[in-house]
Amino acid sequence: MRKNIVAGNWKMNNDLSHTASLISDLKEQTKTSNAEVMIAPSFTNLWHSFEATREDDIEVVAQNMHFAENGAYTGEVSASMLKSIGIKTVILGHSERRAYYNETDESLAKKVDAALANDLRTIFCFGEELADRKAGNEEQVVASQIKNALFHLEASAFKNIVLAYEPVWAIGTGETASPEQAQDMHKFIRETLNDAYGSQIADDMTILYGGSVKPVNAKEIFGKPDVDGGLIGGASLKAEDFYAIVNAF
Ligand code: PGA
Repeated sequence: MRKNIVAGNWKMNNDLSHTASLISDLKEQTKTSNAEVMIAPSFTNLWHSFEATREDDIEVVAQNMHFAENGAYTGEVSASMLKSIGIKTVILGHSERRAYYNETDESLAKKVDAALANDLRTIFCFGEELADRKAGNEEQVVASQIKNALFHLEASAFKNIVLAYEPVWAIGTGETASPEQAQDMHKFIRETLNDAYGSQIADDMTILYGGSVKPVNAKEIFGKPDVDGGLIGGASLKAEDFYAIVNAF
């Protein structure tokens, strides 16, 4: 089922005390929309965040994981470790992971498989760079990112996938894709799914937009028919701004 989701990606921000105070600020906010709310704190603060939001309408999700179940991968965290502390959703393929940690379509396909094998819902991120858009190749790039990492999956797997279109040129830059640019790409993504898996999966897919979403532009972006929510970086670090975005639905 298609849902409205607003997920805050805290990236490498907030130590334990900042995490605790941001969560208590979030709890003071009132949700007036039907959007599902998620926050993605760092690994070290996942357990605290999970415990602190147990009674609340906030899902705590992970920012990344390794594809292996366990073993000699110093510094890494597996799907089963996330699952063991109650995490149900993981973000995979964020452009910062692709750019700084060499994540590729191939390694992401393995991560998606590992997440699904552990019953973790995946928020799968992808998006073109500025040079791709300038060259008019954005659809080609996005289609290949999706196909290479996801199109080996059986149709039934897609109920545990959420897509997040994040044009790299709009992330943390203050430059947002226009609502029309977001809508055009989301429509294209739905068509790509439709061609490969049929209309049921395409219509049911939740597709988030990410890249400099703020209280001032959220309503217009979320107002587009194929935009089902947002992955929010900078603006998710302030409870009031984040809930202004959540309540933009
Ligand atoms: P931003 O980040 O909202 O700070 O642009 C979005 C993201 O990276 O998910």
